[in-house]
Amino acid sequence: MASVTLNKIAKVYPNGFKAVHEIDFNINDGEFVVLVGPSGCAKSTLLRMVAGLESITGGELVIGDKVVNRLPPKDRGAAMVFQNYALYPHMKVRDNLAFGLKLQGLPKPEVEARVNDAAKLLEIEPLLDRYPRQLSGGQSQRVAVGRAIVKKPQVFLFDEPLSNLDAKLRASMRVRITELHQQLKAAGQPCTVIYVTHDQVEAMTMGERICVLKEGRIQQFDTPSKLYNAPANTFVASFIGSPEMNMLDATLSTNGESATAELLGASGAVRTSDLPALAVANVKLGLRPENVLVNASDEAGVLWLDSELSHIEYMGSELFAYFKVGATTITSRVPANQAGELATQKRGDRVRIGLQLAQAHWFDAASGNNLKTSH
Ligand SMILES: Nc1ncnc2c1ncn2[C@@H]1O[C@H](COP(=O)(O)OP(=O)(O)OP(=O)(O)O)[C@@H](O)[C@H]1O
Ligand SMILES: [Mg+2]
Repeated sequence: MASVTLNKIAKVYPNGFKAVHEIDFNINDGEFVVLVGPSGCAKSTLLRMVAGLESITGGELVIGDKVVNRLPPKDRGAAMVFQNYALYPHMKVRDNLAFGLKLQGLPKPEVEARVNDAAKLLEIEPLLDRYPRQLSGGQSQRVAVGRAIVKKPQVFLFDEPLSNLDAKLRASMRVRITELHQQLKAAGQPCTVIYVTHDQVEAMTMGERICVLKEGRIQQFDTPSKLYNAPANTFVASFIGSPEMNMLDATLSTNGESATAELLGASGAVRTSDLPALAVANVKLGLRPENVLVNASDEAGVLWLDSELSHIEYMGSELFAYFKVGATTITSRVPANQAGELATQKRGDRVRIGLQLAQAHWFDAASGNNLKTSH
């Protein structure tokens, strides 16, 4: 049993700065959860509090069925992998893996068996007699993971473990780490994972659930698809998804069956069934770039606007096009094989763009909260 529960956990640093504001969440036994948010939102602080490397100012931290606030790190059943790997430079890989176990006083045969098992699982057997300086970044990263695995922790804590790797290696290590979580489960050594990153792609591809943080507060704790399709507020909506969601100032007026959205000097009809029940006049209308059309057609529920092409980014199978409507930039994401005329157009050209209002997300302009999900 190694669920991790935070009850009103708070952190005030000695200088008086409150980094974590009474956070509550529960991570299930064996679950893979990602903490994500911009720099300084307190991801590391939270992780270090779970590990026992940082004191807890308020609230209760429960691992399994034990309150662990006052337990030293080694008694919490958690193992942490750091961004800089923190390998001992003067020890061979084998000894780096064995070191913590020897300190615990485990018998030699047990230490050897665990080191060999981990090396096999991570495919680092050929590296066991090398020194850390003789390893590539990706290999060092695997050794750092190995050093956590040999401890047979109930909870794995990762703090941005891939940020020192190049993009390609990062992508393959993402897959390896999620596979490892599955493999350990299959091998009867299930572990709960808390994985910290500021990279939303890493979060979306790895997390079974994702906790989005901002300034020491939870914005939303949900599955990747919920975060994408029903963001709790404008912060989550803008943070998740690339290119970013378009966020447009609009006013809504409902008139019984029909409703009208006014934005960017134009107005479009919206089905009331697509609108939040709350009647709020001033809204932010959020629209994913894939819901901005570039090829004029008569589709219902689309608000067509005249725009000026700013620039296009070619991504291979798709392209990202940036348009200006007055001072507002609108981003569209178009599959390359549907780009049509746009592929030959240049900066400054006039383009009709279509906003699929039925796909819009509606946020309260004042609070930023999602009007459909926040009441
Ligand atoms: N020892 C400290 N004393 C005072 N404030 C601190 C201390 N350590 C961190 N902070 C502050 O607490 C906040 C959270 O820091 P933390 O390192 O947890 O952020 P983070 O989300 O991990 O950021 P990053 O993505 O840059 O690693 C920041 O505003 C930071 O400046
Ligand atoms: Mg950090």
